[in-house]
Amino acid sequence: MPTPSAMTAPAIRHYLQFSDFTADEYAYLFERAALIKAKFKAYEKHQPLTDRTLALIFEKASTRTRVSFEAGMYQLGGSVVHLTTGDSQLGRSEPIDDSAKVISRMVDLVMIRTFEQAKIEAFAAASRVPVINGLTNEFHPCQILADLFTFIEHRGSIKGKTVAWVGDGNNMANTWLQAAEILDFTVHVSTPSGYEVDQNVAGIRSADSYKVFKDPMDACRGADLVTTDVWTSMGYEAENEARRKAFADWCVDEEMMRAAQPDALFMHCLPAHRGEEVQAEVIDGPQSVVWDEAENRLHAQKALMEFLLLGRIA
Ligand code: CP
Ligand code: NVA
Repeated sequence: MPTPSAMTAPAIRHYLQFSDFTADEYAYLFERAALIKAKFKAYEKHQPLTDRTLALIFEKASTRTRVSFEAGMYQLGGSVVHLTTGDSQLGRSEPIDDSAKVISRMVDLVMIRTFEQAKIEAFAAASRVPVINGLTNEFHPCQILADLFTFIEHRGSIKGKTVAWVGDGNNMANTWLQAAEILDFTVHVSTPSGYEVDQNVAGIRSADSYKVFKDPMDACRGADLVTTDVWTSMGYEAENEARRKAFADWCVDEEMMRAAQPDALFMHCLPAHRGEEVQAEVIDGPQSVVWDEAENRLHAQKALMEFLLLGRIA
């Protein structure tokens, strides 16, 4: 028996931003998510993570992320521990490093939803186990993983396609930009002035995979997918009034959908505000795939958790 110090620990992979994985790894994850989804639909057990524990840490509210990770981990045979800022020492200034060292000695995997990306990076640096970004101010990689899986299910490969982003240059927009660079598609971005995407914050190498449009109608022209998000993200509520005024023309409506490809899809990560960033006729209309998109958080993240803990399964 080798002593613990003589054993080589496998390298830990974290999922802190979309660019943490390669195109080849995404191809594997999408295939794996499809298989895991098919088994789920057939009521077939798929429990490769028996006895594994996932800690879910929420410093911001959530419905989809909590339910999909919690149900997903149980379905994979494991269990979860749910922590929030208010009911743990996280809200009482325990250093992030100390929290990471302690929590990661007791569980196999950690998902965190928090404010600054720097916080999750600091946690991951001190963690013995993989850490997943469940949304930060800068990124929402699990959502884009599910969105891409949804696009592929409906339309096939996204390579060479055009995604129109209408609205805030926020965590979702940044993650779309990273995805476009890795998976070789284009994003048409239209934001009100003052709310533009920033290439440095988005963490992309060049501006080659996106184009900026002043008018959201122009961004939607010829798009294969039109997508948007709330005008005010969590943590920015103090800007609510200013944003309501600035974003008034950034509401995805039927005219914008008509400017897109005839078979264009509409996506929204949810929660949505009908009459603000999207017209009810669009989100509740025939081109919308928002319910598939929400469900696919479950299947895509099960593939992600399995990959982080077990690697590729031949
Ligand atoms: N889309 C998303 O992450 O939803 P929740 O905020 O409900 O988790
Ligand atoms: N951009 C939104 C996404 C919510 C899932 C937010 O950060 O609040």
